[in-house]
Parts: sequence; structure tokens; C-alpha cells
Amino acid sequence: MSIEIVVGNFKAELSYSQMQDWLTQFVKIFPQEGYPNKKLILCPSAAHLQITKDAVAKAHLSISIGVQNISHVEKGTYTGEITAAAVAGLAEYVVIGHSERRRNFQDRADRIQEKIHLANTYGLSVILCTEEAERYQGILFAVAYEPSSAIGSGKPGEPKDSMLEMEKFKTSLHANYYLYGGSVTEENVHSYILSGFDGILVGKKTLDPVHFTELVKNA
Ligand code: PGA
Repeated sequence: MSIEIVVGNFKAELSYSQMQDWLTQFVKIFPQEGYPNKKLILCPSAAHLQITKDAVAKAHLSISIGVQNISHVEKGTYTGEITAAAVAGLAEYVVIGHSERRRNFQDRADRIQEKIHLANTYGLSVILCTEEAERYQGILFAVAYEPSSAIGSGKPGEPKDSMLEMEKFKTSLHANYYLYGGSVTEENVHSYILSGFDGILVGKKTLDPVHFTELVKNA
């Protein structure tokens, strides 16, 4: 049986203490043995990477940690930037090209290419989000098809149509795993797996540990 990937994207929703509470609850309810053939990647705020990593390690959960973005600059006098090198010891994965970053923070193709290059250089595995066939140099761990109309809208993409869109990308974007993202819930998650996706990227439904655990179970 192949592995299913579940990426939980916390975006910029939780305060430090809310993230502490989330972790406290989550380690109580998430089964220590995990779910067979499911790989979970938690992507908290960069400011919460360490507490997330510590909580997961302390509870002996086999869960991976990802960062939601990295800088397109490698290092230097760039106050406030979070570089690939700075997070490489904390996170194993990085989400690149999320539509919220493309829309709000000028993540264009050239920047996305630089970020992929830096992630590859510093050993972060790339989860690339896109809604169209793009072409980049470098190694991609996963590509997530994320129709922007579906992200955070409560209007999920139709699973089979989404899979047909994803199929179009496969010739230009080579990755180990192809994911769906956009208004995934514990009720609809399995329909994406049944339609051929290797996993999902979840935003809103990550924020409640009980619902999130249910979603992972149902994937
Ligand atoms: P959503 O976000 O699950 O809240 O729609 C998806 C995403 O982060 O891309």
C-alpha cells in the first residue's frame, strides 16, 4: 500500500499560547502509533517550529515538521527574513508557492525558483503549491494542486475534476507525491484519495486538534 501524505498548514492563525494549547491537546488524542501508511507533516508558524518539534518528540509521535515559507535570499543583512539555512535544523519540509504568498507577498515564478533552489541546497524537502502547470528546476517532494477559489472558501474543488487538472501538471512538475488542497474537511478528505491524489494539504481544519485528528484518520 502506498503512503498518503497529510500536510497541516496553520497559516498565521494561532498565537504562541494557542499553539501551546493545540499541542497539549493534540498529543493527548493523536495515537502514538499514528495511522498505517499515513505520513503527517505539521507546518506551524516559523515562531512555533521549536515548540512543535519538542512536543512531537516528547510524545514519541512519528510526525514531520515543515515551515510555511522561506526567504528567497540565502543569507546576509536582511532583517526579519527566515532563511532556508536558519530553519534547516528545525524543519524537514517547506511549503513554497502557496497562493496566499503569491497574492500578498510577491512570490512570483522567479522567486519561487530561488526558494526551490535554496530548499534543495539546505536539505529541506519542497511541497510546491500551484494551480497551473509551471516549470521549475530542482527536486520537488510533493506538488499540491490548490485551486485558489477553493482555498479557505468552503467550496472544495470537485475531486475527479481536480485530479484531471493535476494530471496536466505531471509532465512539467515531477514530484514523489501529488496532493490536493482547498477546503478539505474530515467529510470530503477521502474522496480526494479515492480520485487518485496521494494526499492532501489542509488549512482551516488543522486548527482544531480533534477535527484534524479525525481528518487524518479519514484520509
Ligand atoms: P483551507 O486551506 O484548507 O483552509 O482551504 C488550504 C491551504 O492552505 O491551501
